[in-house]
Amino acid sequence: MNSEKEVGHGGSGKIFKGTYGSDNQIVAVKIIQEDSVQKDKWKELDILREVVHPNIVRYFGFEFNKLKGVYAIVMELAETDLDKWLKEDMQKPKKMLKNILVHVSRGLQALDNLETPIVHRDMKPSNILICGGTEVVAKIADFGLSRIILPNKAGITTQNPGLGTSGWMSPEQLQGSETLKLTTEVDIFSFGLVVNFILTDRKHLYAKSQSESEVVITCNILLDKRTWHQSPQFSPVEYEGFLKCVTKKDPSKRPTINEVMCHPLMWDYEKSFQFIEAVTTILKRNEPFTEYLRKKLNDIFSTIWKTAPWESKLCPIVKNYFLEVQKSAEANREENKHPEKYDSKDIADLIEFIYDRRYYFRSQEGNLELTASNVFGEKGTRYVEYFLERFPELVPTLFELLQQVEYQELVRNQLCPLYCFFSDVRPDAFTFC
Ligand SMILES: Nc1ncnc2c1ncn2[C@@H]1O[C@H](COP(=O)(O)OP(=O)(O)OP(=O)(O)O)[C@@H](O)[C@H]1O
Ligand SMILES: [Mg+2]
Repeated sequence: MNSEKEVGHGGSGKIFKGTYGSDNQIVAVKIIQEDSVQKDKWKELDILREVVHPNIVRYFGFEFNKLKGVYAIVMELAETDLDKWLKEDMQKPKKMLKNILVHVSRGLQALDNLETPIVHRDMKPSNILICGGTEVVAKIADFGLSRIILPNKAGITTQNPGLGTSGWMSPEQLQGSETLKLTTEVDIFSFGLVVNFILTDRKHLYAKSQSESEVVITCNILLDKRTWHQSPQFSPVEYEGFLKCVTKKDPSKRPTINEVMCHPLMWDYEKSFQFIEAVTTILKRNEPFTEYLRKKLNDIFSTIWKTAPWESKLCPIVKNYFLEVQKSAEANREENKHPEKYDSKDIADLIEFIYDRRYYFRSQEGNLELTASNVFGEKGTRYVEYFLERFPELVPTLFELLQQVEYQELVRNQLCPLYCFFSDVRPDAFTFC
């Protein structure tokens, strides 16, 4: 093993770029001083080499250099870490940020699904590495290492919430004694802080300002005192409910990583549209609960969007289509045909409009005026994206509403089209007060 250029340093050691093995593979080498390591546990790390997953940094070897008095961890070399990546000037598209969330949760899921699950214990932006290529990929690093580093050597020295360790810990970790058995729930809590950090342009959920000291942050974590920061690209409805749940003080009440993966924050546009489709099927039924659901939806959205009709959020081109649909519905009514007019104050009608029109625009493909493909993309490929970006609150609100206790009987029935969205989620996983 040869190590050359330093690529970073943290609380436990320095990282160098180097080469490894007979084929001189380019790797990253983390060097830790002998007195920082719990020697009796070092050998346990060998097992970590067997963890292979696209969202987890590969470990190639663990070595002790007696002569230099240092331990070396040889691993996959990444381009940068999440903290530095977010600091870069370029504004990241919403889709890219969502991908990062999904990558990190897939990595956590893989650690949790191992025969002997690994609790990371030190999830924070500097332990999430970013690799380039055609697509940006996030990978979890330093998993399984926190157990071998002596506690007093951890980097709890900085004032910047982007660094340091204790500002990213769950309340039970901060309070816990050495003997406390830490379970995967601690990673879910820290993951919540990382999600907040990504979505709010590097703000901390438990810090009022960027310069808040780590002592204040840890006090706020223990006192459950969150600060809601604005996100440049996400609506608060998309992430606040989620964060309240993953950062619940009681670890057993937090969603599991499998449940986290079922939350709309992790969905792509297609899955969100499938959800809208399923909700439309329910709304088109003529049953008493459908009326109740409509009313509930309108009550919720009257506080989110105030009184503005949803039609006012459409761009002029789509608004024009909307008005044409309304006009022809009016004509149909006069001819006594089935009227299909949408009420632009009724959220259920917005959902139906999105659903119905997608098929309309698809079937009209080729006959559509250029203006429509400007908005929805050729062949309507940006159709779903268009609506979900204009109405980002729609899917998360529907999800939160439908997973409430009063809808359990509906969504937990295997015959319900919504069943697949809720079957892997405990009834109270995403409830908060
Ligand atoms: N495999 C890697 N490839 C490329 N850069 C890395 C790699 N591992 C770490 N780094 C860089 O080095 C920095 C320091 O890493 P290190 O793990 O030592 O410190 P830390 O994550 O800040 O703290 P801790 O010691 O608690 O993990 C990382 O934040 C990252 O920028
Ligand atoms: Mg690290």
